[in-house]
Parts: sequence; structure tokens; C-alpha cells
Amino acid sequence: MKDAYRLLAPFYSQISGWVFGENRKEANRYFLEILPFDKVLMIGGGDGSDYQFLSKKLSGDYWERSQSMLALASRNLKETSLDFHLGHFSGNGKYDLICLPFVLDSFKDEELEVFLKKITVNLKENGRLVFSDFFPPVGFRQKVVHGLMIGFHRLFSDYRRKEIPEYSRFFEKAGWQLLEEKSWKGGWIKAQVYELAD
Ligand SMILES: C[S@@+](CC[C@H](N)C(=O)[O-])C[C@H]1O[C@@H](n2cnc3c(N)ncnc32)[C@H](O)[C@@H]1O
Repeated sequence: MKDAYRLLAPFYSQISGWVFGENRKEANRYFLEILPFDKVLMIGGGDGSDYQFLSKKLSGDYWERSQSMLALASRNLKETSLDFHLGHFSGNGKYDLICLPFVLDSFKDEELEVFLKKITVNLKENGRLVFSDFFPPVGFRQKVVHGLMIGFHRLFSDYRRKEIPEYSRFFEKAGWQLLEEKSWKGGWIKAQVYELAD
């Protein structure tokens, strides 16, 4: 499997901090500080540095498609009881919390539909899914920065999309129901909590 973040991985968190300050990190952390959970499924968590604050509280599975990101994550999160896996999530486990941090924006529409449906079976009863990502930029400055960011990702990773997916439509179609959300930068960045609809 090609490591699309080989060049970017060591600098990813630092570059993101220059552009977004603490907001991307806060979006990844916000609901993890509030929600009760035991076993976690983290998909596309990158270098894992955003979750060091949870340390020993974290157990479950951490899936990364980038070997370089995974190597950093297993170092940054060595105090946790997470198991680290390279590739696309293919497990059969059941989790209290599924985390999708800034990972869905690179999926094609048809992949999103299949993926969001597939992981419904991995949620324990009363479990939650926490999703954080970019939403459509608001205003000229955000539109320019967003365009530059997409160009940068196309150059240095395997980013394939031109526009942000209509997340709510895909979640709804796959059987997820929005419970709560928090926004940063006027809604450009959001963290959302989903549960399975009845
Ligand atoms: C834009 S980065 C975000 C990293 C981190 N979550 C953050 O918020 O900084 C997307 C990450 O998701 C990983 N990724 C993309 N598709 C994936 C998949 N299908 N399964 C697991 N990881 C994936 C990439 O390797 C990359 O590390």
C-alpha cells in the first residue's frame, strides 16, 4: 500500500497548527473529553498527538492507512492500551466510541456510502460515533485558505476530491442520527456526535 503521508507525516501537526491554530485539535478532542466510553475504534487518527491527553484511558483499535502516521501514533500513544493496525478498517469488533477525525473528506461519495453503512455493525448498544472535519468554508478568506489546503493535499497526499462531501446526507442514508455538534471558525470546522437511528 502506498504511504500517501510519507513526506507530510512528520510535519502534519505543526503545519496544521500554523494554519488553524488549536481549532483542528480542539475539534478532535472536544467530545472525547465529555462522552463516557470504554473501547474505542479510531480510524485515520494521523500521528495520534491529539489524543495523548487521554493516555491510559484509551483502549481499543487504531487504524491508519499511512505507515508513517501509524509509526508516529504508536510512539505518541505508547502509554495507551490501543492496538495499532495498518490499512483500511476490516475488523469485526464492537466499540463504545467510533472516531473519524478529518478522514472522511478524502473518501469518494460511493466509498462514504458503503463505509458509513459497514461500521454500523461495529457500534455497541448505546455507543456513539464522533466525527470531526471541514465543512464548506464561509467568506472569502476561508475559501482561499481552503482552496490552498486542497491544492497542498493533492500535491503531498492522495487527496482526490474537489468539494466537501454532503456528510449529513451520507450519515442519514447509512442509518446515523445527529445528536450534538460544536463548531469552530463560523462552521468551517465541526465536531459532531451521532448515534444509530431506531
Ligand atoms: C487529513 S489526515 C488527518 C489526520 C488526523 N486525524 C488529524 O485530524 O490531524 C487523514 C488521515 O487519515 C488517514 N486515512 C485516510 N483514509 C483512511 C482509511 N480508509 N483508513 C485509515 N486511515 C485513513 C490518512 O493516512 C491520514 O493520516
